[in-house]
Amino acid sequence: MMNPMTSARMSAIEIRRLKKVYKMGVERVHALRGVDMTIQKNEFVAIMGPSGSGKSTLMNVLGCLDRPTSGSYLLNGKPVEKMGAGELANVRNVEIGFVFQTFELLPRASALKNVMLPLLYSKANWLGARRAAKRALDRVGLADRQHHRPNQLSGGQRQRVAVARALVTSPSILLADEPTGNLDSVTSDEIIGLFRQLHDEGQTIVIVTHEEDVAGHAARIIRLYDGRIRSDLPTAQDPIHREWVNQAAERLSDLADEVSQHPVEATS
Ligand SMILES: Nc1ncnc2c1ncn2[C@@H]1O[C@H](COP(=O)(O)OP(=O)(O)OP(=O)(O)O)[C@@H](O)[C@H]1O
Ligand SMILES: [Mg+2]
Repeated sequence: MMNPMTSARMSAIEIRRLKKVYKMGVERVHALRGVDMTIQKNEFVAIMGPSGSGKSTLMNVLGCLDRPTSGSYLLNGKPVEKMGAGELANVRNVEIGFVFQTFELLPRASALKNVMLPLLYSKANWLGARRAAKRALDRVGLADRQHHRPNQLSGGQRQRVAVARALVTSPSILLADEPTGNLDSVTSDEIIGLFRQLHDEGQTIVIVTHEEDVAGHAARIIRLYDGRIRSDLPTAQDPIHREWVNQAAERLSDLADEVSQHPVEATS
């Protein structure tokens, strides 16, 4: 039985000294050179960094789509390196929701069937899957588009379908690699608004983005450079920062009240 104190403090993601080396014939590409990172439940984190700095490599390891060369990874307190093939497949399918830059939807299937897909891999209950997929589409504001195929949807709506598909298994972590990379700025704002809403509802979210204004919606930005973390800082969305700003604003308005109740007398 797990100690409730331990489980309360358990992080969603905890990686230590993570390295990834790609072998290309005799060549070696050091994509991650020792990354340490802890992400708590219900955090909203953006990962930034120049092209080739290792962002996608890191996301693929976090999503258990790829294994690191060395280092440790605790996902919800469980060591991923000790998981067997069956457990890993289950984690990928149920614990992690992945959203890609290019949506990756099945072109001939309706929005509803695309969202049902992850559930059909795990449990074969068609009706249950259908109900869950409808709920997920409703959550992303697409209840009225469930029978449209991807080519009958706008870019932003396609990405919403992809987000619904990532959410349909109620994953503990939502990972998104440049989810707004193929969208215009208005549609991109719409998708990032959706992520903020999901975060407010308690979802843990990690996104990769090249855009500072997209990253500014997260509460924390981790910057990678050449396979290492260069900086890891809270943004203005960080809850502690927000509380501090609110307190300062309240104090200012109290002061303004005091001043208006006790007008300073003119001295000349
Ligand atoms: N499958 C692979 N085989 C060999 N090298 C790879 C592979 N995938 C990535 N790399 C190399 O690893 C490094 C990190 O790549 P990665 O895709 O993680 O970068 P990124 O930060 O996501 O870049 P971008 O912003 O362009 O998407 C790059 O130098 C890349 O060439
Ligand atoms: Mg990438």
